[in-house]
Amino acid sequence: MTASHRGTIFLETARILAHHAPAPEQWLLTLEAPACAERAEPGQFVHLQCDPALPMRRPLSLQRVNREQGWVEILYKVVGHGTRLLTQRAVGQTLSLMGPIGQPFRPDPERPHVLLLGGGVGMPPMIFLADRLRRETGWRPMAFLGSELPFPFPTRPSRLLIPGLPPDAIGTLSLLEDWGVPCRLSSTQGQPGCHAGYVTDLTRHYLETLGATERRNVAIYACGPDPMLRAVAQLARAFDLPAQLSLEEFMACAVGGCAGCVVPVQTPQGKAMKRVCVDGPVFAADAVYPA
Ligand SMILES: Cc1cc2nc3c(=O)[nH]c(=O)nc-3n(C[C@H](O)[C@H](O)[C@H](O)COP(=O)(O)OP(=O)(O)OC[C@H]3O[C@@H](n4cnc5c(N)ncnc54)[C@H](O)[C@@H]3O)c2cc1C
Ligand code: FES
Repeated sequence: MTASHRGTIFLETARILAHHAPAPEQWLLTLEAPACAERAEPGQFVHLQCDPALPMRRPLSLQRVNREQGWVEILYKVVGHGTRLLTQRAVGQTLSLMGPIGQPFRPDPERPHVLLLGGGVGMPPMIFLADRLRRETGWRPMAFLGSELPFPFPTRPSRLLIPGLPPDAIGTLSLLEDWGVPCRLSSTQGQPGCHAGYVTDLTRHYLETLGATERRNVAIYACGPDPMLRAVAQLARAFDLPAQLSLEEFMACAVGGCAGCVVPVQTPQGKAMKRVCVDGPVFAADAVYPA
């Protein structure tokens, strides 16, 4: 069943096509949702009913979509009641899905040198953006991904050179390597092949290798926990680069009606309260973390 909300957000009864945990407490969920898949853009999310008995939906980012086959993929971490119940749902069962929701990342055609920074469950939107950019532009995005839990993806040593990085930055996601997207991983938990530190350390090392002319082509896109996004905003400011950040906020309706997700945002007219669900989740870094 499919119904449209405002002509852009669709309500679908989504059949579970695949559902498994590639790493402890991290699950990959593939749902048949053709209306959402058709329109979804990187940075958008779905509002998912995790269990028929649970009245409140949960917001989850889209990691990959396949328009032709009509499916969407989500990566989620188990943190509480809703995501714990979601793990119980089996292949063949259905879930009510609302999506796609929110303002996506808007790649700047003037800055084709794209750096994608993802932390924890902020990795999914960056994987979606990498996939879209490699398919639909001639650009070659680069990714720096961090996780304190084991990475929920196969990893391997990378053969795609990224200059300037510390010697412990060896590993990449096999998926991105296969797409030709240079990527390196970081973790403070001593994971093999990962830089012992943060994604912003890797990004800084790389940016220091670029001259002023090369930097004028660079734009940063990021999603992750709040401290990471603050650090990304500072880094972008230090290198005079534009950055778009995807925020997380507690959400009730996710369609702009309850004002439960508002955050202060700097606008040309001064500070204003914006709804993360429909005015975001993607905002300019200097609007949400002004100097
Ligand atoms: C736009 C957006 C995209 C997201 N994408 C992902 C993703 O791809 N993968 C993933 O694992 N998680 C993602 N999250 C976080 C995810 O929504 C929460 O982890 C989840 O709602 C927790 O639900 P729970 O019932 O298990 O936890 P509980 O803590 O029991 O949840 C209780 C309530 O708090 C809300 N809540 C709790 N934590 C968060 C949070 N961090 N953000 C928003 N609401 C929260 C829930 O919606 C629920 O109403 C995203 C959040 C947002 C806003
Ligand atoms: S969650 Fe209701 S306005 Fe954003």
